[in-house]
Parts: sequence; structure tokens; C-alpha cells
Amino acid sequence: MSAEPLQILIDGEFYAEADAKISVFDHGLLYGDGVFEGIRFYNDRVFRLDEHIDRLFDSAKAIHLEIPATHDEVCKMVTDTVAKNGLHDGYIRLVVTRGAGALGLSPYQCEKASIICIAATITLYPEEYYRDGLILATCATRRPTHDSLSPSVKSLNYLSNVMAKVEALAAGAQEGVMLNTEGYVAECTGDNIFVVKDGVIYTPTVASGSLNGITRKAVMELIEEAGIPLKEVQMARYDLYTADEMFLTGTAAEVVPVREYDKRIIGTGEPGPITKQMLTAFHNLAESTGTPIY
Ligand SMILES: Cc1ncc(COP(=O)(O)O)c(C=O)c1O
Repeated sequence: MSAEPLQILIDGEFYAEADAKISVFDHGLLYGDGVFEGIRFYNDRVFRLDEHIDRLFDSAKAIHLEIPATHDEVCKMVTDTVAKNGLHDGYIRLVVTRGAGALGLSPYQCEKASIICIAATITLYPEEYYRDGLILATCATRRPTHDSLSPSVKSLNYLSNVMAKVEALAAGAQEGVMLNTEGYVAECTGDNIFVVKDGVIYTPTVASGSLNGITRKAVMELIEEAGIPLKEVQMARYDLYTADEMFLTGTAAEVVPVREYDKRIIGTGEPGPITKQMLTAFHNLAESTGTPIY
């Protein structure tokens, strides 16, 4: 719950936070059957809204879920929800659940998917994480592979990421690195990974099990604009341990440096020049572009 009661959009109607409820028979709750997006807005503009809604529709298509609205209608739901709450900077949680249906796994029991949109202010990582960098540890829980539910689907099943986060915190770290079942690096529990080595930037391929992050893509464009060589490759823990610099990207975290991983100090142990360059470039981009809300 937030300090100021929010107005939440559920299936086209706004409800006060305390009255914003969905059925206990919703398969999103019963089976984690649904998809979602986490989206940021800065200075009255939604960052990369079209890309987020495209990914939402792709996730839904992959799980054979029909979103009962068009791309443009969902975009409008997002901007309307922010406007209804009179917010200027913050975080949006957009959720599409399979909807209410009889008990039983079949999604065809559910008549219609539900669309929920929450717009709120965001509690950011503490300032020192950006100044000094994060401490990471490898998690025991592996990233799901492409032969089960595709890791590209941003589904309501985040339990493996939740367990990985528990493991990272238990190890005294602030974030956890998730490997795929082959032992290659996939991503962090809610962020993508980049490293710098000898002037080249590397990031694990999407095939490695990383989410096709919207921030990842934005940063890849900034890297290209800056004329820095970039390679998407299969990466091992070794490549992270021996990196000159390392940083994470994600909608909530934006660009955040890493100073230590599995007790190995990364580079000098302080955010490096390319990391700082990307952090600034991303802030400038996020503050100056996006879909207008008002
Ligand atoms: C598992 C996972 N990886 C990476 C990311 C970063 O993706 P994005 O930049 O689109 O927020 C997220 C957050 O959405 C995530 O949940």
C-alpha cells in the first residue's frame, strides 16, 4: 500500500486502492497464469511504452492468452492510469491475468482475461548502490530453459527468481546471478548483465536465458551511439570474475554498477568509466524521451 491511496485500473474501471480486488478464482492467482510488465515514467513521459506493450503481447501470445484490447488501447490504459493518479515520475505495474474460471488447470475455463494497471511512485535502490556498486553472488536456482516455459515470457511465475533472490540475500549479497542449466550466465534475478573487458562491452545472449530487457536494448543503442564495441555472447562466471567493469540494467534499477561478485572484486572495485558513461547517458535518455502522459 502506498502513502497516498491510489486509483487502480481493473478491466476499464478505476477503483480506490482498498477496493481494487480480483476474484480468488482468477487463474493468475491460482496458477500464476498470466503476464506482466514493469514500466517507468519520467517527467510526465512513459519510457519505451510501445516496446513494453509489444513485449506484453508477445508474452501473452506465447502462453496462448488473448489480451481483450488492442496495443493502442493498452497504451492508453497506462497513460490514463498515471494521469488519474496525477503522478509525474514513477513505476507502472501492468498485469494481464487469465481471468476467473473453475478450479482446474485448463485456461479455457476462464472466460476473459483481466487487465490491471497500477501506477505508483517508486522506492529506488539507495544512492550508495549507484555510487559504490552492488555486491552479487551466484544463486543455486537456475534460470528456466527454453525447453520449459521460455525465459522470454514475462509471466506471473516468478518463483525461481524469488528463490534466487532469497539465496543472494542469504549469501550477504544485494543481487544474485542466475545461471542457465548448462552453467552459463543468464542474468540477475530482475536485471540484465553487462561487463567491460579491454574496451569491449559484453552481454549474455537472450538464448542464454536472459530476458530481452527493454533497458538492455536501450543501453545497447547507447553503446552503439558511443562507438564502443559490443558483443552478445555466451558467458561464464569466469568472464564476470575477470571483467574490468560490470553493470546491471533493468526498468527499476536503471543502470547500476557492480563492485563485487562471489567475493571477487570487479576491476578496481569502483564503478568504471564506461559504466559511469552509460549511467549518465541512460538518465539523459530516460529524462528526455517517451510517450507523453498529459
Ligand atoms: C528476469 C528479468 N530480467 C531482466 C529484467 C530487465 O528487463 P527490463 O529492462 O525490460 O526491465 C527484468 C525486469 O523486467 C526481469 O524481470
